[in-house]
Amino acid sequence: MILGIESSCDDSSVALLRIDDLAQILHKKISQEEAHSVYGGVVPELAARLHTQALPALLNDIKPYFKQIKAIAITNEPGLSVSLIGGVSMAKALSISLKIPLIAINHLVGHIYSLFLGNEIALPLGILLVSGGHTMVLDIDENKNISIIAKTTDDSFGESFDKAAKMMGLGYPGGQIIGNYARECKDKDRFSFTIPLLGDKRLEYSFSGLKNQVRLQIQSLENLTQKDISDISFAFEKTACAHIMDKLKRIFNERKFKRFGVVGGASANPVLRDSLKDLCKNSNCELLLAPLEFCSDNAMMIARAGREKFLNDEFTCYKDLKISPKTSKLRL
Ligand code: KG4
Ligand code: ZN
Repeated sequence: MILGIESSCDDSSVALLRIDDLAQILHKKISQEEAHSVYGGVVPELAARLHTQALPALLNDIKPYFKQIKAIAITNEPGLSVSLIGGVSMAKALSISLKIPLIAINHLVGHIYSLFLGNEIALPLGILLVSGGHTMVLDIDENKNISIIAKTTDDSFGESFDKAAKMMGLGYPGGQIIGNYARECKDKDRFSFTIPLLGDKRLEYSFSGLKNQVRLQIQSLENLTQKDISDISFAFEKTACAHIMDKLKRIFNERKFKRFGVVGGASANPVLRDSLKDLCKNSNCELLLAPLEFCSDNAMMIARAGREKFLNDEFTCYKDLKISPKTSKLRL
């Protein structure tokens, strides 16, 4: 089995994946969402402290399988340094005591593997990655090389939901909360926000202007009612998704993808999923979606990425395994 460990942000998670048939043997996750909710975002110092409690607890669940583990796949970048260090330290200690090799996994690459948890990878592949830290459109060729076609110049898609939720005092993470309020909206034409960079030829995303439009709308209303929140949430979600789709349509016109996947925590967004289904259907392109359970951060996707590297003998020497808040070269 491959042991996957993930601690790049506010989730501590471990998973065991069988190498031969990709059977998912165990998946445990301790989320810190409630602890960060009062602050409207992840507080690094708190995240680090909670990882030091959660990771040893998760280790107990793995103990019965120690003898069957052939390698440890560990997220070492990108993420919060103070969070990454917790998982990496545990992985290194286990590697020494159990005498098994380490495999360093880029968190974004891990998200891409969430599309292939139960099957072998299929390439070439286009990807939309939407998480709390990233918004990117990627092209992956047959040789696993990844090129970035578009990315955000400021906030990410998921982060813009978190910030909109924070401005309305709704807690963290904002994605699902905003979505739930949007579904309650009965007055769909009440507010309308401008789609960022509409008509602009640049293939890039920007969510800071939309965030500002939401802020000004909130300020113009004296006391926010539940109805106000639902109506703003609806208009915001619609505009954020329209921005993603506007640039994607242009990209689809330029590149004829045969296969396209959407990954990352925000890929659970139902409005985005429906729009992508339409785009792919009209473009004769197969749409790949990860199971909802594995859209947000989890160690199973890390174990899955590790299994691929294990089969290719791509191990990481103990001394070379370093953490980094930023991403180095992306490669599947
Ligand atoms: O991938 P993830 O679990 O963590 C990072 O790697 O960042 O993504 C978390 C992000 C948060 O910003 C959260 O608000 C967003 O994904 N998210 C959503 C939805 N569910 C989670 N954003 C929009 N719509 C959703 N349904
Ligand atoms: Zn993530």
